[in-house]
Amino acid sequence: MKNKDDIVIVSAVRTPFSRFDSVMADIPSIDLGVMVMKEVIRRVGIKAEEVDDISYGSCIPAEVALELDVPARQATLLAGFPAENISVSLDRACCSSLTCLRLGVRAIKAGEAEIAMAVGSENMPRTPHLAPGLRKGTRLGHIKLIDCLFELGYTAKGFAPVAVDAGEVALEYGVTREMQDAWALGSQEKYAKAYAEGKFKIGEELMPVVIPQKKGDPIVIDKDESPRKTSMEALAKLKPIYGSPTVTAGNAPPISAGASAILMMPRKKAEEKGLKPLATIVNIVASATAPRGIAFIPAYTIQKALDQAGLTIDDMKLIEINEAFAAMPLVSTKILAKDNAKKWKELQDKTNVNGGAIAIGHPVGASAARITMTMAYELKRRGGGYGVASICGGLAQGEAVIIKV
Ligand SMILES: CC(C)(COP(=O)(O)OP(=O)(O)OC[C@H]1O[C@@H](n2cnc3c(N)ncnc32)[C@H](O)[C@@H]1OP(=O)(O)O)[C@@H](O)C(=O)NCCC(=O)NCCS
Repeated sequence: MKNKDDIVIVSAVRTPFSRFDSVMADIPSIDLGVMVMKEVIRRVGIKAEEVDDISYGSCIPAEVALELDVPARQATLLAGFPAENISVSLDRACCSSLTCLRLGVRAIKAGEAEIAMAVGSENMPRTPHLAPGLRKGTRLGHIKLIDCLFELGYTAKGFAPVAVDAGEVALEYGVTREMQDAWALGSQEKYAKAYAEGKFKIGEELMPVVIPQKKGDPIVIDKDESPRKTSMEALAKLKPIYGSPTVTAGNAPPISAGASAILMMPRKKAEEKGLKPLATIVNIVASATAPRGIAFIPAYTIQKALDQAGLTIDDMKLIEINEAFAAMPLVSTKILAKDNAKKWKELQDKTNVNGGAIAIGHPVGASAARITMTMAYELKRRGGGYGVASICGGLAQGEAVIIKV
């Protein structure tokens, strides 16, 4: 039954996700955010002043620091939203842009907003090195530079690198390096097939990034830059990273720049505006567990979302589990299948059907909204149904959203 108070997604868009050495790597994440914020309203003819609430996620503060802080406020003003617009910048690691969606849903349910926007933006390759201590001066000796991208973990505070936790836990669940490599190969192959079928063409989830040049034509980036051809043999040759037993450059996502945005409102507002919803948000939840559980937090979060909604995993036509590493979808679908081998295979077959972050890229703050929209557009192509998308974030936090198309 369609309820007039349902909160629906009316527009969802992202930039292509870049390679490490892309020209996009020079564009501040704030400017990438501006691009998607403008486009997500332009596509459905909503005016900037009609948007009441903007939540904006990014989780590499060292990159944002090049422009100081409050990326949400800066992007909102630069994108032409009124000075009176209320926004918040937040960091829930890779979960961030789904956290933004959850806050938007809350704001609408609480009657604080009618139209809300969730944004995620990140430019990981642009992250500068940090030089702590220079303000005081160096009396004698070498200067230390810190690379926050290295290990992408929380080792400075004594936590293990994410790749170590994920790899170790995967092995404990019987998910071997070979299985992770096979998943990674599948991710690349599924993306290549979906791309060839036109599923990642400009106009659906993708918008182009246009970079004006001093002389000549602008550079236009109109597709994800990281997908690559590979093979089990090539993947098997790669050495594990950061001390992980299984995670390699092949079964991990690359380091990317990119942004995504989702616009939501109550169904009755969409009807009033003559807008056709892309998807209904059925339930959206957050969770967290002990840091080591990063590979299985998506399963727990999905189960929590399903239980609250009175649905089961079998009701889901599609599943998205972010490929923080190949370990995450494999371990999480195994848990959701309750260790039933046939069911595990079934769940794997409907997870990340167009490939995932390993192929597409993973600009951390933008990925959670990306998996949600990739699933929504695919459900639409398949004639509708339920889908659940979940993502893990730093030190085993989780977000999951159930949508119906
Ligand atoms: C894994 C990582 C360290 C690799 O960084 P990098 O060394 O700059 O990456 P590259 O693309 O150069 O890949 C390294 C090597 O692996 C090879 N490689 C990468 N993917 C491959 C694939 N699918 N098949 C075969 N070879 C592959 C590259 O060709 C390269 O080989 P070379 O050294 O002979 O040139 C980096 O991408 C990373 O940290 N990723 C994880 C990001 C992350 O943690 N995200 C958050 C999750 S919570």
